[in-house]
Amino acid sequence: MHEPCVRTTRTVVRGSFAGREAELQAAARTLDNSFLRGRPEVLLISGHRGVGKTRLLEEIVNLAEAREFQTILYRIGAPRARLPASGSAIIAELARKLAASSDDRGESVRHFAEFTIEAIEAIAPELLRSDRNGSDTANERIVSLVVSSIRRMFGLCQSAPKVVVLLDGLHSADAYTLAVFEALAQSATSLPIVAGASYRPGEANQRQDVSNALEACAGIASHITVQPLGEHHSIGLLESIVGHGVAPDLARALHATTAGIPELLVGVASEGLDLAEQQRFGEMVPPKIPAQLYRLLEDWLGPPSRLMDAAAVLGHDFDAAIVGRVADRDIAEAQHLINRLENAGATTSRYKGGTTFNFAAPLIGTFCYARVNPAFRADMHQRVIEAYDRNNLCSGKFVVGEFVHHLLGANRPESVARALAVAESGKA
Ligand SMILES: Nc1ncnc2c1ncn2[C@@H]1O[C@H](COP(=O)(O)OP(=O)(O)OP(=O)(O)O)[C@@H](O)[C@H]1O
Ligand SMILES: [Mg+2]
Repeated sequence: MHEPCVRTTRTVVRGSFAGREAELQAAARTLDNSFLRGRPEVLLISGHRGVGKTRLLEEIVNLAEAREFQTILYRIGAPRARLPASGSAIIAELARKLAASSDDRGESVRHFAEFTIEAIEAIAPELLRSDRNGSDTANERIVSLVVSSIRRMFGLCQSAPKVVVLLDGLHSADAYTLAVFEALAQSATSLPIVAGASYRPGEANQRQDVSNALEACAGIASHITVQPLGEHHSIGLLESIVGHGVAPDLARALHATTAGIPELLVGVASEGLDLAEQQRFGEMVPPKIPAQLYRLLEDWLGPPSRLMDAAAVLGHDFDAAIVGRVADRDIAEAQHLINRLENAGATTSRYKGGTTFNFAAPLIGTFCYARVNPAFRADMHQRVIEAYDRNNLCSGKFVVGEFVHHLLGANRPESVARALAVAESGKA
């Protein structure tokens, strides 16, 4: 009944691990509280793409095993050959853990799990067919079936083990897996279970059913928000990937351009680092982005578009109005793009709910800029200058160096001459 995608510590391959002391302490408190104080515990771990949720979960598995928990780390979306309804693998794995610690009644636990999976899989197609965002009775039936099944399986154990079940990537869970998570969270109120899930907040917000599942356990959940790494830990991660020290200037520059997002750090170092890299990332247009990083960013951002080109040319502090103007598109279209990028964690606004955006890491902007067709690039720089001349930009933030950058980017004889004059006088 073992599923390869349901992992325990021994099957997880780990590299080195940087930082996250506070997050691990919070997770350790959750584990300890649940059993010392007999409190139900649900652990929610949120963070944008590539920030390190999965890696943190792997470390939490370590913590849990050191505290003698049986642990299940379930990767949502991993292909599963044997069980048609995805969440069944969790029940199967839970049964396996319980059977192993229930002496002579292990067989009964396993049979019971098989029976439950069959019963649930009869309902699952109805649930999976139903509207993704609609609530329906199939969900409730599955939740209550799984809750009672979990209770019965625990009831069959002589001395029930402490169990942690962590679901990685709840934002992309199908309806059945969500129902299993809800059932686990409910069971955690009366059984020695800690239920946990990681998710990307922007994508979870886009789905009513995921938001409902998260809200349902918000009252009893401990919440960890995973942020990018600080400079010290970014450098530690880079050095552990390349296997040697990294020149301090280069290390700081790489931390700055990736904003400490671990997946970007892994990407920039994926082909090793040498001193030539110092020029590479110091320039606006890197001549070469490692193939692994290129694929990651393409997947993250989607295909280029004129609006994305405009945002890349602006570079930072852009809003829908200015992106629309530079791209010659209407504001609504620009707003749609910005919302999509923000939900994907590729752009951020400095203030919650703010309207002025930046790329989540300068490297993301650099990548987008490198994708702009050079023939359009000059024209877009020219449009930024025109917008500036009409005094339509947030002029306070528009510094001379940037203006010169746009003048040079426009690459017309008059703009190059103006760039020289501006640079000399220090005034736009
Ligand atoms: N603290 C860390 N120390 C070392 N490596 C890390 C750390 N955090 C993340 N990484 C590495 O960075 C990459 C991205 O991390 P991870 O896959 O955990 O991100 P994620 O938040 O789960 O992203 P996604 O939302 O796409 O699932 C991985 O290669 C991971 O091993
Ligand atoms: Mg992940």
